[in-house]
Amino acid sequence: MWDLGMTIEVETPAVGGLELVVARLAEWQVDGGAVQLHPGDLGWFWRYGAEQTAAAVRTWARDGELLAVGMLDEPDLLRVAIAPGAQEDEELARRIAADVADPAAGVLVEGKVYLETPNDSRVRDLLFVAGWELDDPWQPLERDLAEPVEDSGLAVEIVTAETAAVRVGVQRASFDGSTFSEERWHAMAGGTPYARARCLIGRDAAGEAVGAITVWSAGKGRPGLIEPLGVHRNHRGHGYGRAMTLAGAAALRELGASRAQVLTPCFNEGAIATYRSAGFELLPQRRDQYRKA
Ligand SMILES: CC(C)(COP(=O)(O)OP(=O)(O)OC[C@H]1O[C@@H](n2cnc3c(N)ncnc32)[C@H](O)[C@@H]1OP(=O)(O)O)[C@@H](O)C(=O)NCCC(=O)NCCS
Repeated sequence: MWDLGMTIEVETPAVGGLELVVARLAEWQVDGGAVQLHPGDLGWFWRYGAEQTAAAVRTWARDGELLAVGMLDEPDLLRVAIAPGAQEDEELARRIAADVADPAAGVLVEGKVYLETPNDSRVRDLLFVAGWELDDPWQPLERDLAEPVEDSGLAVEIVTAETAAVRVGVQRASFDGSTFSEERWHAMAGGTPYARARCLIGRDAAGEAVGAITVWSAGKGRPGLIEPLGVHRNHRGHGYGRAMTLAGAAALRELGASRAQVLTPCFNEGAIATYRSAGFELLPQRRDQYRKA
C-alpha cells in the first residue's frame, strides 16, 4: 500500500531479548509524554510465562535501535509503545501501518483487529487514511507523586511467596472470569519487570484480605503504572478501593516513580470514581483504532 524502505523490520524477540525490550519501554515513559504501553503491562502479561511473553512481543528497529514495541494482549489486539523521538517518524509509521494490516507479517490476525498506539503518533493518521476506525474510549488517570501520599488507613502488606495464594484469591474475587493462579503469580514475580514492582494486599479489621493492587515502576523519575487494582466483591463500597490505590501510589513513590498512572475503560465508572477519590486526575481519553472484519 505504501512505498516502504527496507531499513525497518518487525521481529519477535527471543526470551533473552526481553530484558532489552523492558529497558527500552521503561526509558520511553516520560513525564508529559504520551501515555503508552508500559513495562508493567509486559510485567502483568508475564504471568503466562516468559516464553509466551516473548511470543506476544513485536519490535521494530532501525540499525539495531529499537523504535517501537508492541504487545499482543490478544491475537487481535496489539498495544504499541513508540520511542518519544520516533512518534512522528514517517518510515516507522508506514512500516507499522503496513505490518499491522498484513496478516502475513505475523503481527495481527485476519478480520477485525485492534491497535493501541500513542495519541498523536503518525501511524494513527496513516491508519485513518486506510479506513481504520475509532473504538470505545479509555480513560487514563494520573497522580503526581512529588509530595508524600496520605496514609491509606488500611492494614496493607507486601505480597510474598507465602501470601501469593491470598493475593490470587482477591484477584479472582475481584474480576469475573479471572484465571489468575499461584503458578501465574510466581511466573509474574519471576519476570524482569517485577524487579521494580510491588504487589500489595489490604486486610480489614478482622484480618480478611479485601483488596489487592500491583504497581510497576519504570525507574526513578518516570511514570509508574497500576495494573491491576481489585476489591473483593463482598467488600466493596467501604473505601478499600481508594485505600488500596493510595497504598499503591505510596509504593510507587518509594520505588522512585514521578507519578502514578492507570488506564480504565470509560464505562468502568466505579474505577474512575475510585481513582479520583484517591487524588488522580483525568488525562485526555484514548481510543484504539480498529479495522472492520
Ligand atoms: C473499582 C473497585 C476497585 C472499587 O472498589 P471499592 O472498594 O468499592 O471502592 P471505594 O469504596 O473505595 O470507593 C471509592 C469511591 O468510588 C466510588 N465508587 C465505587 N464504586 C462505584 C461505582 N460502581 N459507581 C460509582 N461510584 C463508585 C465510591 O462512591 C467512592 O467515592 P467517594 O470517595 O467520593 O465517596 C471495585 O469495584 C472493583 O474491584 N471492581 C472490579 C475490578 C476493577 O474494575 N478494577 C479497576 C480496573 S483498573
